[in-house]
Amino acid sequence: MNIEYIAHSAFALNVDGRSILIDPFISSNPLADYDWHNHNIRDILLTHAHGDHLGDAIEISITKHALITAVFELANYCSEKGAKSKGVNLGGRIQFDWGDVWYVPAFHSSSTPDGKYGGVAAGLVIRVGDVKIYHAGDTSLSNEMKLIKEIYKPDIALLPIGGCFTMGIEEAVIASQMLGVKQVIPMHYNTFPAINADVNLFKYKLETLGIEAVILKPGEKLEI
Ligand code: NI
Ligand code: MN
Repeated sequence: MNIEYIAHSAFALNVDGRSILIDPFISSNPLADYDWHNHNIRDILLTHAHGDHLGDAIEISITKHALITAVFELANYCSEKGAKSKGVNLGGRIQFDWGDVWYVPAFHSSSTPDGKYGGVAAGLVIRVGDVKIYHAGDTSLSNEMKLIKEIYKPDIALLPIGGCFTMGIEEAVIASQMLGVKQVIPMHYNTFPAINADVNLFKYKLETLGIEAVILKPGEKLEI
C-alpha cells in the first residue's frame, strides 16, 4: 500500500487497487492536483466538519457511491446533502474489509460550512495490515498522544505543523516524541498565508531526535 499526499490534510491510502480518502479537500485547495474521478474510491474518512476537511466529500460520495465515515452530527449532515454516510464517535473502532479505524480525541472545533454544529473533532488511527497510521486532524498538542502511543502504537503520524488553527512546528515535534513514531508526515501548512511554516526546520528538529520527517509534495506517495 502507499500513502498519497493530496495536499493540506487530504490523503489517499491506496490499498489493493482502491483508494481510501481522508479529508478530501481538493477542488478549492490551491495546492491539490488530484482527479478523484479516476480512482476506485469506496471509503471517505473525515476528521471534522470544517470546509478544508469536508472538502469534496459529499460530491465524491454521491458520484462514486462511496461511504463517508464521520462523527455522528457530521455524518447526518452529509446524509442530508445526499451522501452515503456512517455515523461514529470517539472511542469507536470501525471495521472495514481493508482494515480498522479508531476515532480518537482531537482538541479542535467543528462546524459545517453553513455554520451548523459538526459534532466533536476527531483524529484517526488507521490500521492496514501490520501498519498503523495516526492522522491527527486539526488538533492542538495534548496528553492524548501519550495514550495513543500506549494503546495503538502507531508507526507513522500525519501531524499538522502550520500553527494558527492547529499545532505549530514546536508542538508537532513534541507530539512526534509523545507518539513514539518512526516517521512523521507534516501536513496542514503552506495552503494559506496564515499557516505558512518552514517544513525544513521541522525536518531538522525531528532528525536531531532520531525521527524521520517524510516531506511529501502534493501527489507524492510513501510506500509502506
Ligand atoms: Ni479545522
Ligand atoms: Mn483545518
